[in-house]
Amino acid sequence: MKTKQIRLAIIGTGAVAGWHALRYGQIKHCKLVACCDTLPGRAAAFAKNYGIPAAYEDAEKMLAQEQLDAVSVATPDRAHAPAALLAIRHGLHVLCEKPLASNLSSARRMEAAARKKKLLTAVNFSYRNSPATQKAAQLVAHGKLGRILHVEGSYLQSWLISGDWRKRPGGLWRLSTRHGSNGVLGDLGVHLYDLASFVVGDFAALACELKTFGKGVPRIGEYVLDANDSMVTSVRFRNGAIGTLHSSRWATGHANSVALRVYGDQGALDLNLDRPAPETLRVCLGSSVAKNAWQPLPCPATPDMFERFVVSLVRRRQAQTSFAIGVKVQSYLESSSISAKKGGVFVRLP
Ligand SMILES: NC(=O)c1ccc[n+]([C@@H]2O[C@H](COP(=O)([O-])OP(=O)(O)OC[C@H]3O[C@@H](n4cnc5c(N)ncnc54)[C@H](O)[C@@H]3O)[C@@H](O)[C@H]2O)c1
Repeated sequence: MKTKQIRLAIIGTGAVAGWHALRYGQIKHCKLVACCDTLPGRAAAFAKNYGIPAAYEDAEKMLAQEQLDAVSVATPDRAHAPAALLAIRHGLHVLCEKPLASNLSSARRMEAAARKKKLLTAVNFSYRNSPATQKAAQLVAHGKLGRILHVEGSYLQSWLISGDWRKRPGGLWRLSTRHGSNGVLGDLGVHLYDLASFVVGDFAALACELKTFGKGVPRIGEYVLDANDSMVTSVRFRNGAIGTLHSSRWATGHANSVALRVYGDQGALDLNLDRPAPETLRVCLGSSVAKNAWQPLPCPATPDMFERFVVSLVRRRQAQTSFAIGVKVQSYLESSSISAKKGGVFVRLP
């Protein structure tokens, strides 16, 4: 039987959308047929660049005119919910960028709408793309580290200090809560929370401190620079482990460094997803435990979130990430904001 070709469109054709277009162009059984962006001319230029047949400036119009199976939502955070809900109303499957939404109630609405229509969903939690991440999660799930006791994770960037952030594309909305940003918490913390909960397990409670450091000016045009840019979170995991997860845009010397270390009573793992360096997984297991010795662990290739999404559409089976997981991570973000507002007290998760 011939495999059905999945017809896709992208909503929002800024920086990250280029990666979506590139990957959909490489994956079997799918075709990118349209794209749209509200900024005049942007979708047309994007379509030309990636050989996409049709470009629009209005998502509603695109969805009404094109024969589609699914969309990728790659707009700024605050437009994720309206764009995804529109696509769901049109009966389309949705891969949405992270964070799923700018708040928990929108995220829940998105998940409920997709579930009601039995649509397949995914969230681009891209640090799961690494074979090292997948292997780390397997090691923990198969009990290779024993009982998990202690976790430390970080996601560090330096763009507020290493260049002119005022000119960085997509930089200003990321610094402004009025533009739907939850700061470094919603931009990078979201990845770290997904990574830690994917590898170690769900959170039971967390305590979070968020800080917005001065940038010399309180606002630039319509952008009030009030979103947090450093976070430190203490986590209590449901499996009894404790850990710290932290993130900053002020981390001098770190263009994009992501790391997770997990310590159990029979072994440990050290996941290093520093980009663009090669991603690595090291383990301290078995006879190496007494010697405090670490070995690199080879990790077999695994599909990325885009391939998993397309395969899920072909097979009509839910992918590894879903809007339900997006909602769970969004609840960690919301609890972090509540904790930070109360001075960093522990908040229990539902
Ligand atoms: N998964 C990852 O690793 C990763 C990496 C980078 C960015 N992101 C996420 O991707 C999203 C986009 O980030 P970016 O850096 O590409 O931002 P960007 O500002 O570069 O691009 C966003 C684009 O969306 C357009 N847009 C805004 N509202 C729209 C709407 N209602 N309909 C259609 N187009 C609209 C803007 O004009 C812009 O062209 C964010 O949610 C961000 O968190 C994820």
